[in-house]
Amino acid sequence: MKDSIPRDTFREAVHEAIVSRRSIRAFLPKPVDRATLEALLRMAGTAPSGTNIQPWQVHVVSGSARDRLSAALLAAHQSGEPPRREYEYYPVKWRSPYIDRRRATGWGLYSLLGIEKGDREASARQHGRNYELFGAPVALIFTIDKDLEAGSWLDYGMFLQNIMVGARGFGLHTCPQAALANYPRIVKEQLGIGDDKILVCGMAIGYADPDAPINQFQPDRIPLEEFVTWHDDPR
Ligand SMILES: Cc1cc2nc3c(=O)[nH]c(=O)nc-3n(C[C@H](O)[C@H](O)[C@H](O)COP(=O)(O)O)c2cc1C
Repeated sequence: MKDSIPRDTFREAVHEAIVSRRSIRAFLPKPVDRATLEALLRMAGTAPSGTNIQPWQVHVVSGSARDRLSAALLAAHQSGEPPRREYEYYPVKWRSPYIDRRRATGWGLYSLLGIEKGDREASARQHGRNYELFGAPVALIFTIDKDLEAGSWLDYGMFLQNIMVGARGFGLHTCPQAALANYPRIVKEQLGIGDDKILVCGMAIGYADPDAPINQFQPDRIPLEEFVTWHDDPR
């Protein structure tokens, strides 16, 4: 139990870990050692899951395996191969308010990089940075058994968030990447993953480049009033 920790210090540390997590899109080449990754993943594995079924499976990809995977994904992207994700991550039909939030985020990111609206070449090049893991030395690739239900995907999100928030305690940053599930055939072939699994997403992990302008990007959040409904007042 954490009761012996002074409450304010504990609250501040938790707050700092949560709010300092953001998607980093430029990493230093500095490696992350295995002991750190093990400690982080062990901690993340304490995430809750319905009846404790723990549906997560992680491939840790670094060194030459990382370079091979990155090169193969980038080549597929550059050849114009259409993405073939194994599940729909984004809405099939975009509508308000989601499309507006998506646009605001995309435009915010691209304007920071000086990419003009409609510049498809520059947009594709920036999208390609996903496959270079934004320079991160390690990719985490997440899979789930195909026969598990929606509830297990809910559990999975908690595990992913544990990794991202937990990473802050080690001075690490992350970028969750649905893009890494765009070409499942390539990832499965390279990592020896069977077709009884679905590729959930990937995640770049490493040390943030503090000087990269792209890392200043912090998309807004909707205010509390837009997503909370109060029923009677808690006192
Ligand atoms: C499951 C998941 C997949 C994502 N996939 C990508 C991706 O492929 N590429 C990318 O640059 N950002 C990706 N993001 C990051 C989102 O764009 C980001 O979380 C959102 O804009 C909020 O910004 P923040 O994470 O910096 O707070 C993903 C986020 C999540 C949760």
